[in-house]
Amino acid sequence: MVREVAPKLYAVGVADPDRRTFHGHEMSTAQGTTYNAWLIVDEKETVLVDTVYEPFTDRLLANIREVIDPAGITAIVANHSEPDHTGALAAVKAAAPKARILCSKRGTESIRGWHHRDWPLQAVETGETLDTGTMTLTFIMAMMCHWPDSMMVHVGSPRGASSGGPDVLLSNDAFGQHYTAAAFDDEATDGRLWFETEKYFVNIISPYCRNVAARLDELEKLALPIRMIAPSHGAVWRRGVADVLAAYRRYAEQRTEPRTVVCYDTMYESTRLMAEAVRRGLDAAGVPHTTHHLPTSDRSDVLTDLFGARGFLIGSSTWHMNVLPTVATLLDDIKTLRFKGRLVGAFGSYGWQKRNVDIIESRAGEAGLEVPVPGVVCQWKPTAADLAACTTFGRRFAEKVKAPS
Ligand code: FEO
Repeated sequence: MVREVAPKLYAVGVADPDRRTFHGHEMSTAQGTTYNAWLIVDEKETVLVDTVYEPFTDRLLANIREVIDPAGITAIVANHSEPDHTGALAAVKAAAPKARILCSKRGTESIRGWHHRDWPLQAVETGETLDTGTMTLTFIMAMMCHWPDSMMVHVGSPRGASSGGPDVLLSNDAFGQHYTAAAFDDEATDGRLWFETEKYFVNIISPYCRNVAARLDELEKLALPIRMIAPSHGAVWRRGVADVLAAYRRYAEQRTEPRTVVCYDTMYESTRLMAEAVRRGLDAAGVPHTTHHLPTSDRSDVLTDLFGARGFLIGSSTWHMNVLPTVATLLDDIKTLRFKGRLVGAFGSYGWQKRNVDIIESRAGEAGLEVPVPGVVCQWKPTAADLAACTTFGRRFAEKVKAPS
């Protein structure tokens, strides 16, 4: 559905509510997603900012036609070349032959790489502007939010005026969510918007936290008024502009709470019994905790839960001289997403080879995470003494989690 989110600024993107995974199978999308695109119809210029994933091209063009003839588009801004945003670029360019394409310098490389066309591409830099008639578009490079080519566009006041513009930041992936239940944050009533916002950050952007912090600094320095933030996925932030900027600052700094997430897999329930005993230790120390049995949990939801927690307790049986595959994947994910400053504890049962805890601890170390309390193991099935050792371990680990970091 086309909506005029501000005078002369139309949302012409499409929803894909049936999508259940993103980036191949990297991330789950319980609600599907949206591919947001923005049409600015002004006196001097008609500008399309971003397109959509290729299978939705016809719907994008139909939405644009509800507002104008696409042949009247004078500029297409490609904020980010990933195919969920430039998939329809060739079709839009064919329908808008007069349109020039504007993108970041790195975007000139990646757009050519994805599309193999000899379109002339006009590279823009932070602070460059485009006068559309009654509004000014300001380009802002947003490197690594999410790719080197990422950028944003601020839709503001006419040149020379300090007010009168819509003051909308078209932020592309940053501040987005795979969320389809509402078009604006203040219309979201299902209680999932903030979870989906954090999940998006954790699974898509968290490896680049340092860059995100730098981009937030640059955005602050530009001091552009922002009344709305319109990302390329999910709801437009209208009420929560300051809140989502603050949340991104918190995420970028990887601030954690003194709580613990227990993740485990088990072959014959011994490691599960150990997880229960470890949790009794967390309870005794008064540290809040959640638990995920990895084979029956959603991988990207687990990572989202882990992201805000100071303590990770990871349990696995030994399996073929290794940890179980779900645990190996988790350890890999923690390293790939570059979680920093967390405490890791290991536990698990073994039969013939006591390898599990050593592997978890050494892989946590490889990821740069501290292991403050030696892990706990048991052979075969835990005895009462083994379970008591697990509870003691949980309590000692909890004390470390509670200590100021
Ligand atoms: Fe929504 Fe990085 O693409």
